[in-house]
Amino acid sequence: MIREVTNPTLKPEFGTVPTDHMFNATYENDHWDAGELVPFGQVSLSPFAACFHYGQTVFEGLKAYRQPGGGMAVFRHRDNFGRLNKSLERMGMPALPYEVWERGLTELVKTDAHSIPGKDGILYIRPFVIATEARLGVRISGKYLFVITTCEAGDYYNKPLSVMVETRFSRAGRGGVGYAKCGGNYGASFYPFKLAKEKGYDQVIWTDAATHQFVEESGTMNLAFIAGGELLTPPASETILDGITRKSIIALAADLGLGVREVPIGISDMLQRMASGERIEAFGVGTAAVIAPIEHITWNDHTYSCYVGEDASMYKLKKALLDIKFGRVPDKYGWMTVAG
Ligand SMILES: Cc1ncc(COP(=O)(O)O)c(C=O)c1O
Repeated sequence: MIREVTNPTLKPEFGTVPTDHMFNATYENDHWDAGELVPFGQVSLSPFAACFHYGQTVFEGLKAYRQPGGGMAVFRHRDNFGRLNKSLERMGMPALPYEVWERGLTELVKTDAHSIPGKDGILYIRPFVIATEARLGVRISGKYLFVITTCEAGDYYNKPLSVMVETRFSRAGRGGVGYAKCGGNYGASFYPFKLAKEKGYDQVIWTDAATHQFVEESGTMNLAFIAGGELLTPPASETILDGITRKSIIALAADLGLGVREVPIGISDMLQRMASGERIEAFGVGTAAVIAPIEHITWNDHTYSCYVGEDASMYKLKKALLDIKFGRVPDKYGWMTVAG
């Protein structure tokens, strides 16, 4: 039975209250075990464990959505699995077998989905892999732990964002780890975020490390614009995370009759178009917010306004995506996997 939402204002802060279970699998002697579902609890590691020192940690983030029949369906989890293994490869960590991923995800969602209240309840799923070998020498760990945890998804930005174009710090460089969802990418972004917040911005727009002339991502989201009847977004690359929401929005934009171009986007050109009065939508896309509208972009002390009116196409894209996720329209792309 689905619990009713009692008092939404009492909802705990996102990511602080887990559901009752988690799934663990371990790797040693060149082999992943089958893993098991266990009650949510502490993970005990030696202070010598490699993850505390050398950054071999990767994670994923995905969601399961309540369906009209009351069950939950997970969105595009095979894409998250593929990306997890790309991240693991880049960090010198062993690939996870698909059977372990699928069984863990299915068992956990089936067991704990009932604890998410509401007919439009969303379960946030956080899988991760960490290096656990207890050895201080700087070398690839021989032991790993894979864990899947879940919690109720939170509400994200509820007002359009004010962002600044980051031209001093970089998120990712050519040949680096930008395309991997490894912990270090996020650790390195906190200081630039902190400085941007202190200046009153909600987020930064990352630019390419070499020239700071081309936009890459927005905070922990991919970045897209709608201008002149086209969806424009920089191509996924070794410095841009291959976002699953981004891929989905690209498919849906074509359905809505928008042109789609995955092209490098010069910040100066785009902002000049805004300054000349052209109606341009800018938004972040990602699992957490789905679409986060951007209202103001500041670059070199000038602030530019983006279109956030009610008839903006980005809201239509968001609705089209949520309709599929919640099973309100047929899933013609085969994106949803019913889990329980
Ligand atoms: C750096 C970064 N870019 C983009 C995204 C969006 O990816 P997705 O749509 O798969 O959530 C995320 C979130 O996972 C992210 O952390």
